[in-house]
Amino acid sequence: AQDVKNDLTEVLYTAEEIDAKIKELAAQIDRDYADKDVLLVGVLKGAVMVMADLARAMHIHAPMDWMAVSSYGSGTKSSGVVRILKDLDADLTGRHVLIVEDIIDSGLTLSWLKANLESRGPASVEICTLLRKPEAQKVEIDVKYVGMDIPNKFVVGYGLDFAENYRNLDCIGILAPHVYE
Ligand code: PRP
Ligand code: MN
Ligand code: MG
Repeated sequence: AQDVKNDLTEVLYTAEEIDAKIKELAAQIDRDYADKDVLLVGVLKGAVMVMADLARAMHIHAPMDWMAVSSYGSGTKSSGVVRILKDLDADLTGRHVLIVEDIIDSGLTLSWLKANLESRGPASVEICTLLRKPEAQKVEIDVKYVGMDIPNKFVVGYGLDFAENYRNLDCIGILAPHVYE
């Protein structure tokens, strides 16, 4: 059978390295929310792995809710105009919300989402992202928890996809150009 790992030119983070980073983030979150109730909001679908592992690494209550969003516009990625495909079930009034994401690329998705959730009367809205691409970011966002800053390369795995594939890789790697060229 084919091993999808063969489509990577480089492994950036192994499953063990991701696990260690997730546990660090979880410990910080446990501390910061020790005396308040947090609601984790995952952004489908990329954040599924981060959410599953982060929540299990936490020791405080960690209810989860999910949103699915999609960027409008021309073929290329985020346009900044976002459409809600699946909204939250929860009412955010008075709640401490922590958005959980796999990656901040241009930042346009999260910048829109944070403002959207802030308009719903929460007590606070913070962001936790496993990955961030500083060189690709187009808008400033105040992000409280960042796993790692990575180069502006096409990365997949651990929730991150190319055409819906590679999300199930347990590591994060750089996708070989022959796959998408
Ligand atoms: C990816 C990723 C982030 C977003 C980041 O999601 O999971 O949600 O793009 O990009 P940005 O910072 O440039 O806005 P995508 O829209 O590919 O959907 P998916 O999570 O279902 O893969
Ligand atoms: Mn996503
Ligand atoms: Mg995607």
